[in-house]
Amino acid sequence: MGSKKWHVHNPSAKKRVIVTKSLPGQRWLDILAAADCRIEVCTSSKVLEVEEIQKAIGNRCDGAIGQLTESWGEELFEALQNAGGKAYSNYAVGFNNVDLEAATRWQIPVGNTPGVLTETTAEMAVTLTFAAARRVCDSERFLREGKYQGWLPTLFLGELLWRKNLGVVGLGRIGAAYAKMMVEGHKMNLLYCDLHPNKGMEAYMAAYNAFLKSQGEQPVTCKRVEKVEELLAEADCVSLHTILDDTTHHLINAGRLSLMKPNAILINTSRGPVIDEAALVDHCRNQPEFKAGLDVFEDEPALKPGLADLPNVVIVPHIASATSWTRTGMATLAAGNVAAILQGFPVWEDAEIGVFLEGDPPKAAPSILNAKELGMAFYNG
Ligand code: DGY
Repeated sequence: MGSKKWHVHNPSAKKRVIVTKSLPGQRWLDILAAADCRIEVCTSSKVLEVEEIQKAIGNRCDGAIGQLTESWGEELFEALQNAGGKAYSNYAVGFNNVDLEAATRWQIPVGNTPGVLTETTAEMAVTLTFAAARRVCDSERFLREGKYQGWLPTLFLGELLWRKNLGVVGLGRIGAAYAKMMVEGHKMNLLYCDLHPNKGMEAYMAAYNAFLKSQGEQPVTCKRVEKVEELLAEADCVSLHTILDDTTHHLINAGRLSLMKPNAILINTSRGPVIDEAALVDHCRNQPEFKAGLDVFEDEPALKPGLADLPNVVIVPHIASATSWTRTGMATLAAGNVAAILQGFPVWEDAEIGVFLEGDPPKAAPSILNAKELGMAFYNG
C-alpha cells in the first residue's frame, strides 16, 4: 500500500474499510467493527495523492473515509466501485473536494458530517472577529518582542463592534449560529445574503427584539439583501459562510473589497478560494485600517505571498472545527455513514444528528449527500 504506514484494527473482519488519516475517539472504530469491518488507517500526516489512495483501495475495498485535503473524483470512485466498494464518507461537512456527480455515476453514496461543526466553527469565526477587531495577535507579538514600554492612550486602537452592522454571507447552519452569537452578544444589526430567506432566523430576530423592548433597549435590525455588494458596502464586519463552488469562487475579489468600509473586518471560515487572496493581500496592504481573520486559504496549506507579514490579518491553520468534541463527532458520523450503507440501512433525513453521537444510534446513515440521486431509501422510524 505504498510507502505510507497503515494501522489495522479488527483484522479478521469480513469487510475492508480504508481511512486515509487517523481520527480521534474510539466510537467510530466500534461502529465499523460492529459492522464486521477490518479498518485500515493511514497514520501518516502527509496528504495522500490520488494514486496512493488508489493503491490503498486495491482489488477489494468495501468502503472508505477520506479527507477534505484529497481529491475524490472519477478515478477514486471508479477504483472504489471496481474493488466492490459501496460507500464513501468525507471526514468533513464541506465537500468541495468530492465530485458528487462522478460518485453518483459510479453508484457510490457519499457521506458528510453536518451538525457537529456548527457551534464550534461559529465560535472560531467569533474568535477571529474579535482577534482582528482588537488587534490581539499584532499586539501580542509586540508584547512578546519586548516592545511594550507602558500604557499609552493610542496603543493598538481597534474597532468596537457593539451596535454596528454585521454582514453574513451564507446564512446556513454555521452562518446562523455565528449571527446569533454576534447579534445577541453585541447587539449588532444583521444583514444577510443567501439564496433563500432564512425564516427561522428572521423569527428569532423578531423574538430577540421583543426581549430587547421588554428590557427597555433599542431594537436591532435584520435585513436580507439580494446583492452581496449591498451587504459589503453597509457592513462593519463581514463573515463568509458559503459553500465553495463555481458561483462562490473569488466571490470576494478586488472590486468587491473596494466597496467595503476602509475599517471593515472580513472573516473567512468557509473555504479559501471564496476570497481572491492575492487581492486581499493588496487591499490589506493599502488599507491599514482594514482587518481580516482567516481560517482557510486559497492554496492551502500555502499562503499567498505577503499575507503572513500583514499586521492587520489574523491567520490560523484551518482549525475552526478543531475541538475534541467536534472532531470525535465527525469521526462517529463518517463511520456511521459507511457502516450503515455496508449494512444496507436507509438514510437519515432529519437535521437532528445528535442521536448518532451516543447510546444506541438509529439504524440509518446519518448524512448521505447523493441519496436522492441514487434512489436510496430514507429512514422512517
Ligand atoms: C469541514 O468539515 O468542511 C471543515 O472545513 C473542517 O474543519
